[in-house]
Amino acid sequence: MAGVTPRAPRVGGLLWSLLALSIISAPPAARADAARPAVAVHPAVAHKAAIASAYPLASEAGQEILKAGGNAFDAAVAVAAALAVVEPTSSGLGGGGFFLLHRQSDGLDTMVDAREKAPGAASRDMYLDKAGNEIPNSSTSGPLSSAIPGEPAAFEYLARKYGKLPLKQSLQPAIRLAREGFPLYQRMQYAIKAKRDILARSPDAAKVFLTADGNVPEVGTVIKQPELANTLEAIAAQGARGFYEGRVAQNLVAGVRAGGGIWTLEDLKNYRIVERKPLVGEYHGVRIVTAPPPSSGGIAVLDSLNILAGFDFHDVDSATHKHLIIEAMRRAYRDRAIFLGDPDFIKMPLQQLMSVDYAAGQRSSIRADKAMPSDLLPGIESEPKGMNTTHFSVLDAAGNRAAVTITVNLFFGNGYMPAGTGVLLNNEMDDFSTKPGRPNVFGLIGNTANSIAPNKRSLSSMSPTFVETRNGLMIIGSPGGSTIISQVLLGVLNYVDGMNAADIVKYPHYHHQYLPDEVNYEQGALTGDEISKLESMGHKLRLSNRQWGNMQVITWDFANGKVEAASDPRGEGEGLVY
Ligand code: DON
Repeated sequence: MAGVTPRAPRVGGLLWSLLALSIISAPPAARADAARPAVAVHPAVAHKAAIASAYPLASEAGQEILKAGGNAFDAAVAVAAALAVVEPTSSGLGGGGFFLLHRQSDGLDTMVDAREKAPGAASRDMYLDKAGNEIPNSSTSGPLSSAIPGEPAAFEYLARKYGKLPLKQSLQPAIRLAREGFPLYQRMQYAIKAKRDILARSPDAAKVFLTADGNVPEVGTVIKQPELANTLEAIAAQGARGFYEGRVAQNLVAGVRAGGGIWTLEDLKNYRIVERKPLVGEYHGVRIVTAPPPSSGGIAVLDSLNILAGFDFHDVDSATHKHLIIEAMRRAYRDRAIFLGDPDFIKMPLQQLMSVDYAAGQRSSIRADKAMPSDLLPGIESEPKGMNTTHFSVLDAAGNRAAVTITVNLFFGNGYMPAGTGVLLNNEMDDFSTKPGRPNVFGLIGNTANSIAPNKRSLSSMSPTFVETRNGLMIIGSPGGSTIISQVLLGVLNYVDGMNAADIVKYPHYHHQYLPDEVNYEQGALTGDEISKLESMGHKLRLSNRQWGNMQVITWDFANGKVEAASDPRGEGEGLVY
């Protein structure tokens, strides 16, 4: 094993036992959320509050609400609402996501699942033609690709159940930004350029994001969104009903149906968030609290960590170290493809997938000197084939925290804005497995577990996570489609290795998602020597022509009360500590 010692006893020992494990009904979990390792020793010293988000105006909106006496959960509403205005490429009222929360007074960890739901008239084969072939782009373009949004419901729920301030107050910064406008910045201009033709087809979207003659506005142009301000005001005045019922709902449904979509007023009225118990795992005594399904991220991160926990990385060269992490990713993404979907619709062997015995079986199929081709891990056949979301982290002075990853899926969702709403629609339906084995936009494949059904949530990679050691904690998450999971995994490993927040967010990423069977890496992620060695082990390496992610991390050192907030330099975000 070329210097790599598996630390846990081998279970099964062979690939075939691994495969058998995945078929045999779940063995008792060796660990799952019952474990509460590394009981955090919280500091007696005062510490600061912090916010890290993808755009300064959004971080500042959260700061304004904390200063006004709000807690981390009020700030989460303010930041998410402000991002809907100033980063509409990535999230918004027309989308959804996951709000992972920690309440300091009683230690409660919970997740508000505001993932979008398929409309009631959705059906398994809705994106296939009569011959069973995929209708090109049907799950990404136009309102037929839109699921019922969850973000506005989360705002009311968070404010009512966990916040200290009225929803109306927490939404004020966003309303102001929508009404008074903000200067267009480069990253958003880039997204407008990329989506110009699509935005041009939706008159309300064109009015906001394009010039009068249909061109891309200059950086610095003030972007005002009066209709969005009106919709936010309706939510401020009436709570979620201001969005899911009445004038806004009627305009949304009329717009969606005029564009070929299938939403009904009932779909909107019946949308509910679900509060779910986060997954809890352990890695070398460190406690990881992370997103449960319908996110696949938590399971995949914990499974990878369980696999890696059994290796001793001392005296292992860096290429072998990365190889083992890549092999863990390969196996965890395979499980994602086979087993995971909406927990309200399907049964999943979660205890098994998170158990150390299962991970030991997976580990035993890893050779230290050789890549394992993904097709030797039979799972799902993929048809060969070929971005946006936002994350923010909040810590308040009382120790409450929020890790929030929200999305409209691709840049500006599907770019369609129903008239009179100011709301851009998501294209989250593409996160379903529209046909078994068909890769989605991120090349992810899925199984019947993630097939379309009315009112079902599509499987997500969004992975908001808390990491707690005896000495401190980290709040972490990132956008990046399928790479979210591997980014968060690397972030956790780096934090456990002692890296600081600024270095964690800028760390160059490498990624393997089972299929396609290749390692994608950012410039700088692998040295020349590592590339040669990984290739000699049989890995197919592909240098990515773009950067991934926009990670937002807060760390808190219990011993000295030091808090750091770091925003990924790949983006234009801001970490604030005060
Ligand atoms: O939920 C998901 O996994 C995807 N809709 C996330 C999309 C995404 O991160 C795009 N970003 N870069």
